[in-house]
Amino acid sequence: MVGYSEILKEHYLKPRNVGIIEGADGIGKIGSRECGDYFEFYIKVKDNIITEAKYKVFGCGAAIGLCSIVSEMAIGKTLGEALQITDERALQAAGGLPDNKVHCSNYAASALHLAIKDYYRRVFANAGIKVD
Ligand code: FES
Repeated sequence: MVGYSEILKEHYLKPRNVGIIEGADGIGKIGSRECGDYFEFYIKVKDNIITEAKYKVFGCGAAIGLCSIVSEMAIGKTLGEALQITDERALQAAGGLPDNKVHCSNYAASALHLAIKDYYRRVFANAGIKVD
């Protein structure tokens, strides 16, 4: 793990919030199981706040560590605040990555954003409004 920051190593070795949320309010999926990098984020939302965030990830240690970091960043945030957790901010929070591993950090925040999008899609659907 040469080139990984201490914080990333710590998250990779002891990932937080791993798993799925039964009855999640939003689910985001990105990547390809066939290619090996695949991310799923699950969120629970109450009063516009993300109360729980979990994930399943098929990827390397950097990907696991980034998902752990992004999940911790998301919990307790409003949905609007969570949308501000970009790939760049997640990478910064992870203390950076070696150049050849930066791509591993590019899906964790995106999967979270897709879970938020799914949450809103469900809100609209419950109101009888169809959105893509
Ligand atoms: S997630 Fe594929 S090499 Fe890191």
